[in-house]
Amino acid sequence: MVSESHAPALLTVQNLEKRYGSRRRLGDFLTGKQAGFLHALKGVSLHVNEGEIVGVVGESGCGKSTLGKCIVGLQRPSDGTVIWSDGRSMDQFSRFERSTRIQMVFQDPYSSLNPRFTIGRLLKEALATHVPASNKGDLAAEVDRLLGIVGLPLSLKQKFPYALSGGQRQRVSIARALAVNPQLIIADEPVSALDASVQAQIINLFEEIRHKLRVAFLFVAHDLNVVKRVSDRVLVMYLGEIVEEGSKDDIFSRPRHPYTRALLSAIPIADPSVRNPSAILEGELPDPHETIAGCAFSSRCPYVTERCRQNHPELTPVSGTQRARCIRLAEI
Ligand SMILES: Nc1ncnc2c1ncn2[C@@H]1O[C@H](COP(=O)(O)OP(=O)(O)OP(=O)(O)O)[C@@H](O)[C@H]1O
Ligand SMILES: [Mg+2]
Repeated sequence: MVSESHAPALLTVQNLEKRYGSRRRLGDFLTGKQAGFLHALKGVSLHVNEGEIVGVVGESGCGKSTLGKCIVGLQRPSDGTVIWSDGRSMDQFSRFERSTRIQMVFQDPYSSLNPRFTIGRLLKEALATHVPASNKGDLAAEVDRLLGIVGLPLSLKQKFPYALSGGQRQRVSIARALAVNPQLIIADEPVSALDASVQAQIINLFEEIRHKLRVAFLFVAHDLNVVKRVSDRVLVMYLGEIVEEGSKDDIFSRPRHPYTRALLSAIPIADPSVRNPSAILEGELPDPHETIAGCAFSSRCPYVTERCRQNHPELTPVSGTQRARCIRLAEI
């Protein structure tokens, strides 16, 4: 996709591949099926500009978390490169260097916060990895600053994670991610476990952080309303591939890929008198262990032709900012 700015992207991902080895189940031994691979990412390329929020959507199992984990370094890609804005491949960064640039925020803040530490200590520990030993006296002031950024009262410093609400815990994990002053945060379903009203507050917080601190986000969510709210650009994934990408307007006002259209038609509509026209997304996702020769969406696509089943489509530009992976773009 064409980058709007001429500055190099903050992060560029090129042809990222992830294959998970899969173990044979009992049935596989009986039928003689060999251990196979699950191809979770199939040549994913993307970029994130400084201070930009890029949304990633797609059904469960399409590879969103794997993508985030490969970028942050929690998973090792099978192939492909992740390049930082200075031109260096992230393979060349130490784990520490990588963590000062990119942080990850997860869906369930409870399991990622040590239950035996107070909030003050949790934040101090995160800061201590980053602040030089001579400046350790400043840590207390830094903890207060972080709590202020994420809108939490200083009185929470003495509390333990269990005493906080879900929204407060997510604010703490955002504060902890911010402790190292990262330029990119990968947020993997960060509001999915929260009530709708709390979701809205946390989304506001992400927007504030982006504006005040110029932090970029790769924002993974299955809720399209959330992605529509926060994203500048959107990537739509299906079975390990990006099938469409574009600006928020491109994707939500002019979707071109049949899968994106199906996803959008399935967004719950607030007005109960309006019938939700989610008729298209039927059928199961194909088994991710199977190799698909043609278009990955062909088994569910209402526009499928024989040609679609045989040819694997490339991402094709449909405008300066939008690309879709479908050979029938001109006809549908
Ligand atoms: N550690 C692993 N070992 C083997 N297979 C895995 C592993 N992690 C993920 N997978 C498989 O890789 C595929 C992509 O999984 P991933 O968790 O990235 O999807 P996702 O889009 O994040 O899904 P969800 O919306 O449910 O979080 C799935 O088929 C999943 O079962
Ligand atoms: Mg996931």
